Order: sequence, then C-alpha cells, then structure tokens
Amino acid sequence: MSQDKSQHDGAETVDLSNLPPDPSRRLWVTTACAAGGIAGVATAVPFVGSFAPSEKARAAGAPVEVDVSSIKPGEMRTVEWRGKPVWILHRTEQQVEELKNNDSQLADPNSERPGFTPPYAQNEYRSRKPELFVAVGICTHLGCSPTPELAAEPGPGLPADWEGGFFCPCHGSTFDLAGRVYKNKPAPDNLEVPPYQFSADGSSVIIGVDDDNKA
Ligand code: FES
Repeated sequence: MSQDKSQHDGAETVDLSNLPPDPSRRLWVTTACAAGGIAGVATAVPFVGSFAPSEKARAAGAPVEVDVSSIKPGEMRTVEWRGKPVWILHRTEQQVEELKNNDSQLADPNSERPGFTPPYAQNEYRSRKPELFVAVGICTHLGCSPTPELAAEPGPGLPADWEGGFFCPCHGSTFDLAGRVYKNKPAPDNLEVPPYQFSADGSSVIIGVDDDNKA
C-alpha cells in the first residue's frame, strides 16, 4: 500500500452486512479488495488550480485525490468521499472485453437514465478510461453497500453464469463490473458514477470535481 503522498482519510470502516438497510446512514461495508485487500487511501485536495469547485461543492465537502498507479489489474480500492464509499476498480483486459456480453441482461445497459452517469462515462465501460472504473458503492435500492464479487464464478446469491460484479446482500440486487444493474432486481438504477477527473500525469484520480461538469 503506497503511503508516500497520501494520508489515511480516517473513514470509519465497518462490516454492515448484517444490519438492515438504511439509506441515511453514512457508514458502509468495507470493500477490502477481493484480490489484494487494499485499504482505502486518499488525500483531501485543496481548492486550487484547474479543479476549483463550485460553491455548492465546496459546501458539500472537499474533493479527494487517490493514487491509482499502484492498483493492479483485478484489484479494487475503496475511499471515502462526502461520507460515501467510492470504489476504484482496475479491470483486467478480459473483464473490459466481456462487459459488452452483459447488455441483454441489464436494465439500463447504455446508462441512459438521468442522474447516475456523467456524460464522459456514458460509454460501454461507464468510465473515462476503459480499465479504471470509479463508482459510488451504494445500492440504488435502499442504500446498502454491495459486496464486490469480482471473480467470474458462482457463489451464494449469484447466478451460475456470474460474470463478476457486485452483489447487494440486503435484497439481492446484482450489478456488473461497470456498476450496471441486472434486470428484475430491486435496485432501479445503475450505481452512481461520481464526478471525477485524472491528474495531469494520469497517476491519480480526483473525486468530486471534473473538467466537464464541476460538482
Ligand atoms: S438495498 Fe435493496 S437490493 Fe440493495
């Protein structure tokens, strides 16, 4: 885990899998990386320079910068932004390639429903870069935090042909590796993609503000 430029964000990391859903709660299930167990590491970003936020964003909370250069393919990191868990998943080439196979099973495969996907993520990857997926880890049903089930293999509550994705333990909603909800599940919408942008050298993601649509 890289500690060189970051400090821990102090997020409270607890297991809520046995608690009832509560959309107002600000705690969240720990989503320690299934592959590597990476803890959330982030740095609050000062309001300076090219990503100066709006007054609304300033009141809501500072952007968070995350070093993504150390997240290996197949690994996921969770950080806190505005009291919410935000996932950064480095998808493998195979995982990216297989995303298009899911479309017929998804409720909103092209992310056309408003409010959950910024314009720059309205593509088959739901991300600025195909391999790096950034999403708010809160179920769009009643606010539980889904569990990463990244491996393409069946498990409790998962279908036999599971391709890898996220499983909400509260009421069984499932999402693919682009956070798109499967059809006929309680969750009505895809997972939210927050505003974000990359640093100039591409080594970091800045969550909470972007060039196209300042939060
Ligand atoms: S909170 Fe109900 S399925 Fe996720």
